[in-house]
Amino acid sequence: MTRILGIESSCDETALAVVEDGPRVAVNLVASQIDIHAEFGGVVPEIASRQHMRVISQLTQSAVESADGQIDAVAVTNGPGLMGSLLVGVNFAKALAYSWRVPLVPVHHIEGHIYSAFLNDGGPPAFPALALIVSGGHTQLIQCDAPHEYRILGSTRDDAVGESFDKVARLLELSYPGGPSIQRCAEDGDPEAIRFPRAFEKTDTLEFSYSGLKTAVLYELRKNPDRSRNDVAASFQNAAVDILLIKTKLALRQTNAPRLIVAGGVAANSLLRKRLESEIDVPLLLPTLEYCGDNAAMIAAAGHSRLERNLVGGLNTTPNSGLAL
Ligand code: KG4
Ligand code: ZN
Repeated sequence: MTRILGIESSCDETALAVVEDGPRVAVNLVASQIDIHAEFGGVVPEIASRQHMRVISQLTQSAVESADGQIDAVAVTNGPGLMGSLLVGVNFAKALAYSWRVPLVPVHHIEGHIYSAFLNDGGPPAFPALALIVSGGHTQLIQCDAPHEYRILGSTRDDAVGESFDKVARLLELSYPGGPSIQRCAEDGDPEAIRFPRAFEKTDTLEFSYSGLKTAVLYELRKNPDRSRNDVAASFQNAAVDILLIKTKLALRQTNAPRLIVAGGVAANSLLRKRLESEIDVPLLLPTLEYCGDNAAMIAAAGHSRLERNLVGGLNTTPNSGLAL
């Protein structure tokens, strides 16, 4: 059995996990900083890195104790993300790997999200696949040809979809993070009340753009201040999710990919999950809700696959806030 310790600290979650033989999660710990950043309406980088420093030792100790056994490698997110936050995780991982004399495996955060679809009952890593990654920092369609071979087919030109949920939630005076608040509010609203724009809807590009949608919500609220907040939330969510479906279907047609992975924080959205399940006609790999947001089990799972192929790092591993996939 190969047991990997995963460490994720790229943004506002300090996460530690132990994963056995690739997909089986033995321990999954996430210390979220959401409450700390909520009063600022978004993540404050300096506060984030200090908070990672505060909790990482204790979390590591808890993870290793509950896994109860030898750790064979340490996998860590080395980018992209907030530099100060990445530095905490990467340096901690290097020290552990050095003192335990085990390999250090650097993992790209987005590759981690891709592997979140294979955790536990998700089945063994299966490629080729098309991946739609939807989070607070990314909106990307990625062609995954083989393990660790990726081609980015389309990305957002401005805001990420999760970021647009967060920004629109602020306009609607809903709590941070915006995704779950908007989803809740939308349950009592009419998704057809307002027709918000879907960027690049009629073109065959696989690019996304979400800043115009956020601005359209802002103008709608200025023009009709008495408009039902629930209707605005439902109509915004409808537009935000609709364009994800439109572009993903287009990418499936263009690539003939035999399966679809959808991962990242926004993959927890109930409307998105429902529409994917009813409208996508290739096998769909969706992580369970627990593994949509940032976690370290996904980093350990991707690290396991890298370790098998000897794609390991060393003490010269450094974080890179703009790391390319
Ligand atoms: O993957 P993630 O945890 O962190 C990043 O790597 O960015 O994603 C966080 C994002 C936030 O923007 C949050 O508002 C969004 O995921 N999110 C959701 C939902 N839950 C979280 N967006 C829509 N619906 C949700 N249920
Ligand atoms: Zn993420």
